[in-house]
Amino acid sequence: MAPAVPTGDSKIAEWLAHPYAGPVLREMLAQSGQSERALSPVKRFSMKKLVKLSNGQFSQEMLDGLMAETARRMEAGDAAAPADAPVPAEAQAPDEDEEQEWEERITEGRFTGQTVVVTGAGSGIGRATASRVAREGGRVIALDISAERLAEFASEHEGLDVTIVTADVTKEEDIARVLEAAGDRIDALANVAGIMDNMTPLHEVTDEVWARVFAVNVEGLMRLSRAVLQRMLPAGRGSIVNIASEAGLRGSAAGVAYTASKHAVVGITKSSSYMYASSGIRVNAVAPGPVITNIEARFDSELGRERVEAAMAILTTPVTPDHLAASITFLLSDDAVNLSGVILPSDGGWSAI
Ligand SMILES: NC(=O)c1ccc[n+]([C@@H]2O[C@H](COP(=O)([O-])OP(=O)(O)OC[C@H]3O[C@@H](n4cnc5c(N)ncnc54)[C@H](O)[C@@H]3O)[C@@H](O)[C@H]2O)c1
Repeated sequence: MAPAVPTGDSKIAEWLAHPYAGPVLREMLAQSGQSERALSPVKRFSMKKLVKLSNGQFSQEMLDGLMAETARRMEAGDAAAPADAPVPAEAQAPDEDEEQEWEERITEGRFTGQTVVVTGAGSGIGRATASRVAREGGRVIALDISAERLAEFASEHEGLDVTIVTADVTKEEDIARVLEAAGDRIDALANVAGIMDNMTPLHEVTDEVWARVFAVNVEGLMRLSRAVLQRMLPAGRGSIVNIASEAGLRGSAAGVAYTASKHAVVGITKSSSYMYASSGIRVNAVAPGPVITNIEARFDSELGRERVEAAMAILTTPVTPDHLAASITFLLSDDAVNLSGVILPSDGGWSAI
């Protein structure tokens, strides 16, 4: 007899292992040009958690639809998915229990009296960082290229000290507006805004992809940091945290443009840490592993897909932006008083493999 219809509380691995639900889920993936490999890093998540983390890409309605279709096929005894159908080995449910979920704990007043500029604050890691700084008493200058995302961020943080600035970090005139909004004092800067490439190796990378990725990830970060240092140097105090990536540590996490751009972020961090060591300014970087955000990564190269997907076999479980905000706000804050020049992997141990 086939087991009961899996629910939102069932793990993805259980869905894939189910003789009726497995094929229904695989069909849905195939319709969007994907395979179950896309789910392997999150196999231990419940479907409910996937709905919560997917930013609308996998909705509750879609989950309800999968359950209804599974129930329909089971009732009909659909021969397309017999109860004794072989289950692919990689779909077997893992034995271990789902890890206990981590809960963010606010450090009251950690940023009280401080002005903190956060880029990419409209989404993902930047949004979580800006939110945590604001909830820990900081005055946040939240900037993003998307006015819509910033407006949503502001409305969700009413009553906290948040100033939003729609700005493109690649444009000097926009950076001038950010500095104007911040005023005379800037205590900390989190350079989070960034974009992915399309996983192309060197012989296939286009001028356009190379230029755009470097403009945002490297030049934008350099321009804003250069401007903010005009405030930090006279004050003799400041903390800058740059967001690198696992691709800033190794060659197997993305295409050549993104990988080179994040290695450049590591270089800027180390140079600045050294240069400002006696100026009271700490400069560190966080290198995230997989995080569930709105960042878009396309595979425009067969070779790129083959090589990057092979390396993804050792990927650690994706986490939420709040997990990254915990690492970033630690380095931003005075708790990291003795740290500078650190490239901190925040990746569940991926970089140790
Ligand atoms: N998500 C991951 O798995 C992951 C892993 C490693 C590193 N990172 C890095 O983390 C950082 C944040 O990415 P995320 O995953 O939160 O992505 P995201 O797309 O959810 O958020 C990035 C934000 O940056 C903004 N932005 C893009 N270009 C900008 C520009 N020119 N000026 C101002 N704002 C701009 C976007 O509008 C967006 O709101 C990036 O630097 C990314 O490279 C992400």
